[in-house]
Amino acid sequence: MRSVAARARAGPVNLASVWTPDSPDLVIEGDNLAATATLPDGAFQLVYLDPPFNTGRPQRRQTITTTRTTDAAGPGSRVGFKGLAYESVKGALYRYDDEFADYWDFLEPRLAEAWRLLAGTGTLYLHLDWREVHYAKVALDALFGRECFLNEIIWAYDYGAKSRRKWPTKHDTILVYVKDPVAYFFDSAAVDREPYMAPGLVTPEKAARGKLPTDVWWHTIVSPTGREKTGYATQKPEGVLRRIIQASSRPGDWVLDFFAGSGTTGAVAASLGRRFVLVDENPDAVAVMRARLPAAARFAAIGAERLGG
Ligand SMILES: C[S@@+](CC[C@H](N)C(=O)[O-])C[C@H]1O[C@@H](n2cnc3c(N)ncnc32)[C@H](O)[C@@H]1O
Repeated sequence: MRSVAARARAGPVNLASVWTPDSPDLVIEGDNLAATATLPDGAFQLVYLDPPFNTGRPQRRQTITTTRTTDAAGPGSRVGFKGLAYESVKGALYRYDDEFADYWDFLEPRLAEAWRLLAGTGTLYLHLDWREVHYAKVALDALFGRECFLNEIIWAYDYGAKSRRKWPTKHDTILVYVKDPVAYFFDSAAVDREPYMAPGLVTPEKAARGKLPTDVWWHTIVSPTGREKTGYATQKPEGVLRRIIQASSRPGDWVLDFFAGSGTTGAVAASLGRRFVLVDENPDAVAVMRARLPAAARFAAIGAERLGG
């Protein structure tokens, strides 16, 4: 049988013939919509997504109040936030902000793919900043169903310049949705515990054991001089991924990250005995992942001939 490298050199890779649940870990260079289209339904216990943020500014503003009185869910339309048809909510937002329209036209089909690829017990973690997260909540309520919303995790850090014109924005938000609100997997006992803020208020035994993290996670960013640093600008801390992977997957489960960047998800998944598929379209990201995950993964390219394994 030809290797992934040979297939990649020979032309576009059909992942359906390269990746199966018995395959080794895999890193794919290419557009994630093309890559995920070749992966089978329900194959992943955990999907973590950290898409690029939409930092564009509103270009033409219009009020969105009209949609609140004109909602009518057509055939096949999903009913989302406050019973509004999701298409109505989205249409209003699209008129509000052209940049937003472009961003969501990009992100929405990818979120739908995440839903398709999740196992019945699986969980999606969507990592966004304060500009996008509220729109994403509406979109995911419509895609997954409101009953599948599990948590809003606040990752708080304290680093870098601070505005004096408003409260400095020093947090990201991670939305957590499960595929099935009854059957989903969550193992709080597997999560590393953290020190109590006021250990004197609990018994010495409890203080020694530490407490279960809540939905607010204080965690430093990747230190510019630390062991983890890869040089990839948007790299996320391993400690944040560690909690996610510990809680929402078991050893041996498949984890998917199709905005993989420097490969933090893969590095942590491997360290915890999980398997992974990572996708990124940026050759620089793939180069970082090659260095970071040297033994753990095979490499393939979608629609390109330049990568080897
Ligand atoms: C915020 S970064 C992810 C950082 C990552 N969590 C880490 O710890 O390094 C987003 C990544 O998405 C990738 N990306 C953007 N659009 C993509 C697409 N259509 N297909 C695949 N990757 C894409 C970018 O190249 C970038 O590396």
